[in-house]
Amino acid sequence: MANSRGRARKRRSQAWFGREGKMGFIYRSWVKNRGIPHDQFDGRPVIGICNTYSELTPCNSHFRTLAEQVKTGVWEAGGFPLEFPVMSLGETLLRPTAMLYRNLASMDVEESIRANPLDGVVLLMGCDKTTPALLMGAASVDLPTIGVSGGPMLSGWYRGERIGSGTNTWSLSEDLRAGRITREEFHEAESCMHRSHGHCMTMGTASTMASMVEALGIGLPGNAAYPAVDARRNLIAREAGRRIVELVVKDVRMSRILTGAAFENAIRVNAAIGGSTNAVIHLIALARRLGVKLSLDDWDGLGRGVHTLVNLMPNGKYLMEDFCYAGGLPVVIRELGEAGLLRRNALTVSGKTIWQNSRKAENHNPDVIMTMAQPFKRDTGIAVLRGNLAPDGAIIKPSAATPKLMQHKGRAVVFEDIDDFHARIDDPKLKIDESSVMVLKNCGPKGYPGMAEVGNMPLPPRLLKKGITDLVRISDARMSGTAYGTVVLHVAPEAAAGGPLALVKDGDLVELDVARRRLQLHVSDEELTRRRTAWKPPKPAMARGYTRLYIDHVNQASEGADLDFLVGGSGSAVPRDNH
Ligand code: FES
Repeated sequence: MANSRGRARKRRSQAWFGREGKMGFIYRSWVKNRGIPHDQFDGRPVIGICNTYSELTPCNSHFRTLAEQVKTGVWEAGGFPLEFPVMSLGETLLRPTAMLYRNLASMDVEESIRANPLDGVVLLMGCDKTTPALLMGAASVDLPTIGVSGGPMLSGWYRGERIGSGTNTWSLSEDLRAGRITREEFHEAESCMHRSHGHCMTMGTASTMASMVEALGIGLPGNAAYPAVDARRNLIAREAGRRIVELVVKDVRMSRILTGAAFENAIRVNAAIGGSTNAVIHLIALARRLGVKLSLDDWDGLGRGVHTLVNLMPNGKYLMEDFCYAGGLPVVIRELGEAGLLRRNALTVSGKTIWQNSRKAENHNPDVIMTMAQPFKRDTGIAVLRGNLAPDGAIIKPSAATPKLMQHKGRAVVFEDIDDFHARIDDPKLKIDESSVMVLKNCGPKGYPGMAEVGNMPLPPRLLKKGITDLVRISDARMSGTAYGTVVLHVAPEAAAGGPLALVKDGDLVELDVARRRLQLHVSDEELTRRRTAWKPPKPAMARGYTRLYIDHVNQASEGADLDFLVGGSGSAVPRDNH
């Protein structure tokens, strides 16, 4: 029995609730104030529901309902649920960027779990950074854990056309800048894009990370695509509540699920869904919390030969709601499994392997989900570039790039930082044409700080009006998962850490060759040495507080941009009490 005393004595929560005397009184009595009867402390699994609900995180604003479903599932399975809030990261409102706070939120999650009487955890996450923050924090404790994503919004519709979060925000903004639409039309589109609860419904970072949760096996089948307002989203939350009790009884910890095989599967799934480049950073950071060896080069190696199967924005035309109705992620996983591109035996929180979860999945719309034999785009895994401009690597998402620009030589147009970019990009005198390579510095983890999603720099209006829609763009920044273009990102080391990106000047010849995985600055070593001698590191953006801690301790993008002292975990040992 899940709540038998014999097993319960060993359970972590009994170090609190199973105590006698003064301490037992303290631990139980205050919890009883909600009407919790004494028998709930008999050693049954105590399940934490880690909630990122916040009105400041609109994508997660339905999480109270979801938490109630999880709770019901926990009660039904004989567990005792306790919901708790953690820092929530709203992508749209947080400044300077939610990524600055991913690691801080992960610390909140880790310490909240370890410090409390919990035997297992259900993580409620949705908006971009909430998913990696919760996974990373929970991984450093390593209790039995299930991830439940909040689900994507319903499709946006504007004047008879699908419009997708982010993707059409960029295109509508460019239409406005180029004078193709009016301000009134722009405002009208705002209320047509996000018309239900849920997270961004393109295959942006939130949908990518929800897919990663499912592909890693730490979420239940269907987790990625059920819309937030679909009854099945509630069902999956309810089922997670039931399953977590079982995982605690069987002591199936997070590290049993998040193995090297699970990460291999996730990387291939990311290629097959044309997923966000942000997943590269988040999965490397997560793996390093668990001691799983995962490098930037694994992304390139494992993604080779994997085709994009889904026709979803920002690479294609459909949205997550369409993906759900077509069969969702299990169809993609089945395709990979049949092509020999899946570690079939990877265990998942359903209690079955990933292959058992997916092998019978049916494709209900082959225009939305295509096949490995006839894919949407060929060989589109994340490409890792190296060269004298990025000794520790940079990445590009080929599925979002313009094919003819993937091999390109051009003269650099350099922006020293994002303020310099904003100050000059609309200047008609800016010397830039369709062969130029835009270079943006000081937007990496330390430089911004927080590595903002500014790598997909908007093009100058002059070029937009000429019908030019893409240029090679290079930076140490990230790019929104909903964005597109021939955009080289995450250049490491970043400019603010003294990487060669800091040395690029206007007019330098830059070469991008994606097929050869090359990113080269054609400037002599002697000249680069001269420039390095003259280079001075930028002053830290903040002298105190968390931002200062972040700047001093953040790792480079190629290492997951975690704080150096958070890599690894401290485990679930019960802390001493304070009385
Ligand atoms: Fe929350 Fe896009 S803004 S997922």
